[in-house]
Amino acid sequence: MPIDLKFPFILHGGDYNPDQWPEEVWDEDVRLMNLSGVNVATVPVFGWGNLQTSEDTWDFGWLDRVIEKLHAGGIRLCLATATAATPPWLDAKYPDILVVERDGRKRKHGSRHTFCPNSENFKRLSTGLTRKMAERYGKHPALLLWHVSNEYGNYCYCETCSVAFRTWLKAKYGTLKELNHRYNMSFWGQTYTDWSQVEAPQDLAQRNFQGLLIDYNRFQSESILGCCKAEIEVLREITPDVPITTNMMGTFKPLDYHSWAKELDIISWDSYPSRSAEPAEMAFRHTLMRGLKDGQPWMLMEQTPSQQNWQAYNSLKRPGVMRLWSYQAMAHGADAVMYFQWRRSPGAQEMFHGAVVEHAGRSDVRVFQEVAGLGAELARLGPDTLGGRVKAEAAIVFDWDAWWAVEFSSGPTVELQYVDGCLDAFRALMSLGITCDIVSVDADLNQYKAVIAPTLKMVKPGFSEKIGSYVKNGGVFVSSYFSGITDETDRSFSNGYPGPLQDILGVWIEETDALAPGEKNAAQFGDLRFECGMLCDLIRLEGASRLATYVKEFYAGSPCVTENSYGSGKAFYCGTRLDREGARHFYGLVADAAALSPVFGIAPPDGVEVTTRTAGDKTVHYVLNHNPVPVEVVLPSGSFTDLISRKLVSRSLTLSAYGVAVLK
Ligand code: GLA
Ligand code: ZN
Repeated sequence: MPIDLKFPFILHGGDYNPDQWPEEVWDEDVRLMNLSGVNVATVPVFGWGNLQTSEDTWDFGWLDRVIEKLHAGGIRLCLATATAATPPWLDAKYPDILVVERDGRKRKHGSRHTFCPNSENFKRLSTGLTRKMAERYGKHPALLLWHVSNEYGNYCYCETCSVAFRTWLKAKYGTLKELNHRYNMSFWGQTYTDWSQVEAPQDLAQRNFQGLLIDYNRFQSESILGCCKAEIEVLREITPDVPITTNMMGTFKPLDYHSWAKELDIISWDSYPSRSAEPAEMAFRHTLMRGLKDGQPWMLMEQTPSQQNWQAYNSLKRPGVMRLWSYQAMAHGADAVMYFQWRRSPGAQEMFHGAVVEHAGRSDVRVFQEVAGLGAELARLGPDTLGGRVKAEAAIVFDWDAWWAVEFSSGPTVELQYVDGCLDAFRALMSLGITCDIVSVDADLNQYKAVIAPTLKMVKPGFSEKIGSYVKNGGVFVSSYFSGITDETDRSFSNGYPGPLQDILGVWIEETDALAPGEKNAAQFGDLRFECGMLCDLIRLEGASRLATYVKEFYAGSPCVTENSYGSGKAFYCGTRLDREGARHFYGLVADAAALSPVFGIAPPDGVEVTTRTAGDKTVHYVLNHNPVPVEVVLPSGSFTDLISRKLVSRSLTLSAYGVAVLK
């Protein structure tokens, strides 16, 4: 479904912070928005202090006037609740609102995203502003959707949070005895004898009690979501028909976005890849975000039209790259392409952050012209690309709890990064032309021919049973090193590793070697040899057969990659981190076993990405050339219309450097 049925175009626009500029500029802004094909503006994300100048004084006049100008210019509103940065008067009056950082430092006023999520004053005041916004603008004809706060994610370690954490733990574990058992507190004689002894875990560096650390993440993620829900409740009460989003950040560790997604109507996220980011990394994050709401179309809420200010080296996006990356988002399910920000800040932190309109305010410049060019193209696409779902035969399981469990772990190697393992699988499949979804451990997996759960250290109740029946019924499952180690409170499984997945995989892991930097082993697959490293599981075959064997070390000749028949399906285990070629080879074997098909029937040329979105009987293919040189792509049989160039194409297609085709 399009984001708004009454608005049958790709949303194109971005963050607009007009309160930084004199009013004369606003008319020019609307003129330039029209010139660049912008049809939506996100206002006023950081406007709190300019809307509420003291607890009882409000000034909506400026926002009324901006909104009228935008509306008169045909620009729709992605209306922020404006609660992301607290005004100076508010922090001065209610200091409890300011967070305490992990190192115990109480923040002073002076930034954004600095509120304690358990502060009642913050909830009262932020929902107060939300109510005013909803009452004032909820029926405005330009209003498309609500944008709650901005990039939530600040954890707090204050006393209020500690007290609330204890209440949360009591509700979860019932007794202190149970909590002591779950966290293995008899280690170092740390058994709690009173609830008041449980503190917010600030001593992260030591990774002492992972169960506690993981629970604190869960608690903070839920607490921060509580702030978001409090605003959502007000919005649903006053404007039940207006969809709600909050902008997310992709592979953002602090928040369990799967639980967040349940509270939102639309997923939106802010994509800021560095210039050297691989296409697979970007595609991975888009796919993760798409999976939060079962593949529903989503919004690219922010991207820079040119450069950032917060990276060490803020290079410009090369000509054509912004356009390519915008289409890449659409290829992975976006129905909105938006920027941060519309006009460069005249001063302060983001004066060097790229914007559609630079300080000189000119439209005869590269960045503006590229935005306007894309705007015109998107308008020409009309409703043809809207609402389509990406078709995927394989799914990667992604779990925030497992992520936390992997990275709070003390050992076996500091190199173990949860996202890397998932990305390895994604990249390999992408290079074979196979589209993946990324789903939660709770997802219905039966629609997929293959399910891959990399580095799933924590296996929560019910998951292995679900995988067991999935494989028995013919599914193909892939697991990898550092999986099936602990339960939902990070206690190790008593049958060793990979815990409850042992039967399905037909293997038992006796030991795991961690390789020093630069140290490598190799995996011998028949005649083919690939480098591997980081971790090497010493695998005992208990039903599985070997696909590859270690080449070096005292475990040379023992299996490193295995395959097991289980019911009518297959389960693969990869006990080491294969290099890229090795991963591509391994996932080729998985793809054969699961009969996964590349989008156009064959693997695309290097650096070319192909996806398909379907809506009812409408099918649209996206073909993206990430290479700085032209490339020829072989098409499946039939003829297609390129919706961008309006030309008919068949058999093959030549894409220019960074070129894109949208084929119908
Ligand atoms: C984030 C924020 C924006 C802005 C950009 C800059 O995405 O949401 O307000 O600060 O970063 O890249
Ligand atoms: Zn707090």
